[in-house]
Formats: sequence, C-alpha cells, structure tokens
Amino acid sequence: MTVIPLGVPRRLLEFTLDGEPVRAPEGSTILDACRAAGKDVPTLCEGDTLTPKNACRVCVVEVEGARTLVPACSRKAEPGMEVRTDTERARHSRKVVLELLASSVDLSTTPKVAEWIKEYEAKPDRFGPDAARLNEEPRVDNELYVRDYDKCILCYKCVDACGEQWQNTFAISVAGRGFDARIAVEHDAPLTDSACVYCGNCIEVCPTGALSFKSEFDMRAAGTWDEASQTETTTVCAYCGVGCNLTLHVQDNEIVKVTSPHDNPVTHGNLCIKGRFGYQHVQNRD
Ligand code: SF4
Ligand code: SF4
Ligand code: FES
Repeated sequence: MTVIPLGVPRRLLEFTLDGEPVRAPEGSTILDACRAAGKDVPTLCEGDTLTPKNACRVCVVEVEGARTLVPACSRKAEPGMEVRTDTERARHSRKVVLELLASSVDLSTTPKVAEWIKEYEAKPDRFGPDAARLNEEPRVDNELYVRDYDKCILCYKCVDACGEQWQNTFAISVAGRGFDARIAVEHDAPLTDSACVYCGNCIEVCPTGALSFKSEFDMRAAGTWDEASQTETTTVCAYCGVGCNLTLHVQDNEIVKVTSPHDNPVTHGNLCIKGRFGYQHVQNRD
C-alpha cells in the first residue's frame, strides 16, 4: 500500500475557471485545478513526476490579459486569474499541434490521442503524404527494451528521467538541431555500448510508447498484446530491502511488463533493473 505523507497545509487561491469560481492550493498549476474540476485538458510532455518542459504546447489555455496562450501544465494558478480552457483560440492551437504531430510521428500507441484528434477535429493527414517523417526502424539492440523513435515527439521526458531529475545516469540526450533533433545515446551507439543501466525509468515516463518493454514490442508485433485482458497487481519488490512497489501487468498468466506507482513518496515511479526487468525468474518454468 502506498502511504502518502501529510504535507504542510497550503493557502487556497481563488480564481475563475471557465467562468466558475474555483479554489486551488498555492503552488498548483492551472492543469492541477483543471483536473480537480474534472476538465480534460490534453497533455503529452507533462509528467506527474517531472518538472514541466513545455515542449508540446497541447495543453494551452487562455488567461485574461495574457498576450499569448499559456501552457496549463506549467503556469501556476494566481489569485483573481480568469482562465478559459475551451475557447476557439485554445482549441485551434491544440488542433494544429495534434495535426503537426500526427503528420510527422507515429501516434498509434499514444494513449488518448485518437480521442483528442476527434474532439479537436484535427486532420492527421492535413500536410499530405509528403510531410517529413523520421521513417526509422525500431532499435532492437537488447533483450529488455526497444526504442522506436518513429513514435518520438521529442518531449524530453526520458532525458530528464535518465538525467538530473531522477536517475543521474545521463545515458541519453538530444542530438542534432531542428528537424534533425533526436534522442540518442553517446555517439549514437547501441544501448549496449552506452552508460545505460537498464532501470527503465525512461520507459515509465514516455508518453507515446516510443520506449517500450521488449515483451510488449514483440507481443504487439505478433498481434497478441491485449491491454483490456491484462490485470495489474501492485506488490513489494523482493530483490533487496528497499521495499519498492512494483505493479505487475499480467496477461494470460504471464508478467508482460512492470511499472511502479508514481505516487509512492520514496520511488516516484522509478525502479532499478532488478525491479523493472527481473520478473522473468517468476515465470521461468524450466
Ligand atoms: S534505462 Fe535508465 S539508464 Fe538507461 S536510458 Fe533509460 S533511464 Fe537512462
Ligand atoms: S522517447 Fe518518449 S519520452 Fe523520450 S523524448 Fe521521445 S516521446 Fe519523449
Ligand atoms: S503538456 Fe503542457 S506543454 Fe506539453
């Protein structure tokens, strides 16, 4: 069971959200307030365990008096603010972001994106068949996880998770500029020649499935991946005495991937290689 420690009480700020008065604890973002009010503002580069990077701009909203649209995921709520989440301008901006992403990236494994494309009437083929794409084959260079950069939206979450925000391994970074920008390991080497320690904390935060367990990748390729039939069980990792929480995703009585609860106050969704990938021993029946 995840234990959430009680935090210091925070002052409540009052402001207006889509014409309704709302109150949010000091330090909350506009997105926090939207979620508390049950409003579905799309997000891609935002991560509940990471500092916002403002890379995708799909979460933009209008703030009265602001010249430009503001990213709800990083803009803090202020007293007296008047926020509108569903104006024509904000909807148009989200639509264009979705069209640009859909024209250049494979979004087939990005949760909820199909819903948002419909909601914002975005046209994924707006820029035609000649729109520039990476068209790169998935990189399968180890037995644990696959990097399919054709699905990468350059949100930087994996880089932040691998680097100073969590893992401090710095195995991956952004290489190149403009359209040539890519997530890469040192010298674009295979993962096996890099500093990667296979904690999988980059997979945990990737919003598009560009990074995935090899088990998931293989099952998707074989047409057997069936999220609807999977169960999730959170337990305690038995490998050492730290006591990290593991969520085991099980399909047909086999563990197919392992995640970790983001609200755990110690690990915040992060694991080491043993917790993340050491599950094979459970189902090794040889
Ligand atoms: S598995 Fe861990 S060390 Fe390797 S790239 Fe991902 S976050 Fe970095
Ligand atoms: S691989 Fe995933 S987490 Fe990393 S930048 Fe691309 S979409 Fe973001
Ligand atoms: S989710 Fe807010 S800028 Fe990407």
